[in-house]
Amino acid sequence: MNTTRYAAIAGTGSYLPPRIVSNDDLAAELATRNIETSDAWIVERTGIRQRHLAERGVTTSDLAVEAARQAIQDAGLRPEDIDLIVVATSTPDFVFPSTACLVQSKLGIKGGAAFDVQAVCSGFVYALTTADSFVRAGRSRHALVIGAEVFSRILDWNDRSTCVLFGDGAGAVVLSASDAPGVLAAQLHADGSQTKILCAAGNVAYGEVVGDPFLRMDGQAVFKQAVTVLERSARAVCAEADVPLDAVDLLIPHQANVRILNFLARKLDLPADKLMVTVDRHANTSAASVPLALDAARREGRARPGQLVLMQGVGGGFTWGSVLARLTA
Ligand code: ACO
Repeated sequence: MNTTRYAAIAGTGSYLPPRIVSNDDLAAELATRNIETSDAWIVERTGIRQRHLAERGVTTSDLAVEAARQAIQDAGLRPEDIDLIVVATSTPDFVFPSTACLVQSKLGIKGGAAFDVQAVCSGFVYALTTADSFVRAGRSRHALVIGAEVFSRILDWNDRSTCVLFGDGAGAVVLSASDAPGVLAAQLHADGSQTKILCAAGNVAYGEVVGDPFLRMDGQAVFKQAVTVLERSARAVCAEADVPLDAVDLLIPHQANVRILNFLARKLDLPADKLMVTVDRHANTSAASVPLALDAARREGRARPGQLVLMQGVGGGFTWGSVLARLTA
């Protein structure tokens, strides 16, 4: 008798704040402050056409709860069935309590564990791997894993090289204990010597803001690093699962830039129809980008039960990682 316990994705959900800002809208807004950009520049360099931005006062936990409700319903569960909440975010509502605790309270869940994971744009892959370990170890039966961000809050809106790249949103999955394998393999990595190429190096101390809390990035260094580690990590996680790369049905990398995505798919020899792209409509939503794209793929019929999905994160830290999963729902 097989007594191995696995974790499988039982449901997904997503939420985008309703305000859509096109590149032209953004260019017009920046022009009022004599900052020049254009739809043509943004589309050519990044593939981004629009982003969703949260209204003032709307927080990460507000977005997270909407995505979570959908994922729980999609899994055919009730909030009280959830015994673990892991939220990946770099834009938490507060220093503490964790956004996961706020989500737990807003969903009316009593009991179980709740905590945040901070790995920037790799956050969801880190959170999913963490929850997978909890479920497989028997410490959780139904884990809610969320990636949620209001990155618009940490952007320097006077820096055109970064402010055009990001958006706000949330995506969620329910990861449930299962007799059949869902998550097949996962790998996480970090290289703390590369902190400076992508950071928001400020904090609150002594009652003041210390340092520079806005996102700063060396775009070309990030680009090179991202394509190198994503390719290596995709090959390694497939090797760990003993699955050939061409058996992957859908590649869902972190949605930073369409040039990174196309370059990666070419390097992995994956055809365009196996690459999920949402960066054009969502922009870069950091930890939310992979679960948002996964939910879109399922709703659009591009990710179906039985298929192999390769999810990848890469971002500040520098951090990166991959999760290979067979969809059962
Ligand atoms: N509009 C118009 N011009 C701009 C803008 C803008 N929004 N931003 C920068 N420029 C100008 C620069 O000032 C520069 O002008 P100059 O030649 O007169 O000095 C010129 O465009 C070229 O700037 P570069 O920074 O060299 O542009 P590049 O081709 O490298 O593109 C980009 C920048 C899109 C950021 C690119 O480096 C990139 O894709 N990097 C990957 C990083 C990424 O996607 N990060 C997302 C967050 S990280 C993550 O999620 C992992």
